[in-house]
Amino acid sequence: MQTKTIFITGTSSGLGKLTAIHFAKMGWKVAATMRTPEKENELTQYSNIKLFKLDVTNLAEVDSAVNDAIVAFGKVDVVVNNAGMGSYGALELATEDTIDWQFAVNTRGPINVMRKFLPHFRAVGGGMFINISSFMGITTAVPLGSLYNMSKFALEGLTEGLYYELKPLNIELRLIEQGGSTGNNFTHSIRWNKDERIKDYDYYMDKVQAMMSNPDPSQLDDPQTIVDAIAAQATGASTQFRTIVGEAGKNLMALRNSVPIEQYLETIAKNYN
Ligand SMILES: NC(=O)c1ccc[n+]([C@@H]2O[C@H](COP(=O)([O-])OP(=O)(O)OC[C@H]3O[C@@H](n4cnc5c(N)ncnc54)[C@H](OP(=O)(O)O)[C@@H]3O)[C@@H](O)[C@H]2O)c1
Repeated sequence: MQTKTIFITGTSSGLGKLTAIHFAKMGWKVAATMRTPEKENELTQYSNIKLFKLDVTNLAEVDSAVNDAIVAFGKVDVVVNNAGMGSYGALELATEDTIDWQFAVNTRGPINVMRKFLPHFRAVGGGMFINISSFMGITTAVPLGSLYNMSKFALEGLTEGLYYELKPLNIELRLIEQGGSTGNNFTHSIRWNKDERIKDYDYYMDKVQAMMSNPDPSQLDDPQTIVDAIAAQATGASTQFRTIVGEAGKNLMALRNSVPIEQYLETIAKNYN
């Protein structure tokens, strides 16, 4: 069987890095992309991983990273849109820049990368996009997370909507819905929206910041379970369009699907009272 190639965004830490290593160990060729490849010294240990500089919000970098990866490996089979960041805090207190940034990284980034790969996938007769979303992309779960919800809900709509135009071209789409996991850098990837003069949101802000800085370990997943879910899609072991990983997400979705939305929202809000 011919060796396959995977292209992954945001491989400097967390899930992206683990996914790159996992596929390298499986014998795949890996285009590991990140904003600062010059700082990387772990992925460079693998002969079948090549690093490419990529800020997913920078169209010139998307252009060169995708072109260079295709030239280096000849063909790319699977693209994982993993790079992601979070804006938390009251919408009213977010800066204009933060609102745009949240959309730019989590939604526009995957759009940029997918649009650049589509001509290649059409030319080689198919491919797969695996979009890393969150259970925050299919339901709400954390107060003051509306912008993050917005970016991942948009990613979900984008991915679902693309099904119809890409299916006839043999280009497959997958969504991975996970929650918090151990070993990532996500608390460093959060921008908190604050204005010291406005106290009306402090009640939730204190609770959400405390929850994020000291998460309940029983709510965190082993990141390997998320990597395994990605690998199951990439290898064809699963053909599930959406994979919910972890108990927290599964329980939330069970609740969301079993009660009216008004009751769901009140139940989540009460968790923070
Ligand atoms: N951790 C969680 O609680 C959680 C829960 C559900 C879903 N997710 C999603 O899982 C994905 C991976 O996150 P993680 O948990 O592995 O956290 P992480 O360790 O913070 O990884 C985020 C990655 O995204 C990269 N990144 C940020 N902005 C970028 C940009 N403009 N261009 C390219 N790369 C960029 C970061 O690179 P730098 O080193 O350059 O900043 C980092 O490599 C994200 O999409 C996240 O939304 C995470």
